[in-house]
Amino acid sequence: MKIRLCTLVIASLAALSALPAARALDNGVARTPPMGWNSWNKFACKGLNEQVVRATADAIAGNGMKDAGYQFVNIDDCWQTGRDAGGNIVVDAEKFPSGIKALADYIHSKGLKFGIYTDVGTKTCAGRPGSIGHEYQDARQYAAWGVDYVKEDWCNTLPGQNAESSYTLMRDALAATGRPIVFSICEWGTNKPWLWAGPVGNLWRATDDIQDCWNCKRQWGGNGVVQIIDLMAAPGIESYAGPGHWNDPDMLEVGNGGMTTEEYRAHFSMWAMFAAPLLVGTDVANMSADTRSILLNRAVIAVDQDPLGQAALRVKKDGDIEVWSRQLADGGRAVALLNRSANPLSIGVAWIDIGYPSSLRATVRDLWTEKETHDQTDHYAAQVPSHGVVMVTVMPH
Ligand code: GLA
Repeated sequence: MKIRLCTLVIASLAALSALPAARALDNGVARTPPMGWNSWNKFACKGLNEQVVRATADAIAGNGMKDAGYQFVNIDDCWQTGRDAGGNIVVDAEKFPSGIKALADYIHSKGLKFGIYTDVGTKTCAGRPGSIGHEYQDARQYAAWGVDYVKEDWCNTLPGQNAESSYTLMRDALAATGRPIVFSICEWGTNKPWLWAGPVGNLWRATDDIQDCWNCKRQWGGNGVVQIIDLMAAPGIESYAGPGHWNDPDMLEVGNGGMTTEEYRAHFSMWAMFAAPLLVGTDVANMSADTRSILLNRAVIAVDQDPLGQAALRVKKDGDIEVWSRQLADGGRAVALLNRSANPLSIGVAWIDIGYPSSLRATVRDLWTEKETHDQTDHYAAQVPSHGVVMVTVMPH
């Protein structure tokens, strides 16, 4: 009996080791989607400087955001100006007179983490030096500064430059530093990164740049919230997200003024449904009460951060009416009833569309109004405002 058990264990272990390697980067970080702030959407190139970043870190540490899970303070393009004779990256001394190490130390002193930006090509999108040919040198510099997160963009690449191998090079350079660093691939969905980026990065942009508008396809390819929602409905895309590796529908515009409060609520809710990184892109040191109440909705954040890491699937599309559902670690579902139309509409979700039998009794909790409905069977329906969502959890009894 003992021998048979032992043989069984060995056979099982052998079978396990014969399984193909998981298609996910195993660097120990981003087990749930990263949460924090990034300078680009509000401050772009012109407005970026160390005072803004320090004020942001102060605000995040003091206004409830840190307690709600926001952790990263990330600078985007325009912190770098050139390279010295030794090829070392040179910091923009006008914007960052105290240097990057001092800024990272300050952010760490607040119990937060620090992120930086680069590009796989010769220059960043704003024309600052890219990392091509300097990947290991740059990664070592980032680690020495105490960088916890690196976003790498896709501008000014060489003709025919291969995305997977370019990002793999930076992945290996970051790994060689020995410092745990979240690696954010930003190639805008150009080469369907969800198909190859799982073992390469912790997150990958699945879409072109977001714009601060609900429905605003721009000629050069920028996206409004509804365009991004459609891109996130690409067949199978949700199956590539999971702990350590996430689809990135781009950073949040909540609070930047181009959408209504209802639209921002829908934007934030849908990003939580996608298990998206929640990188706030507004001036958090000076935000309105509405913006604050959206960004600090703990129930919506809990859906985004659910440990199962299963991203939502669009289970119904009927013109401007959509229903999205994701399975949660506790066996419940998060459901978003989305109304893309100009008028309020009643939208329903049937239990059979979210993997439950009609007879199942559940408690439905509205994550924005906090209203609970008990003993609900078969379906749930609600009145959804124009350009809005009703986001609920459905918890079986
Ligand atoms: C690209 C990226 C943006 C931002 C800018 C900076 O457009 O997609 O997120 O980083 O570059 O120049």
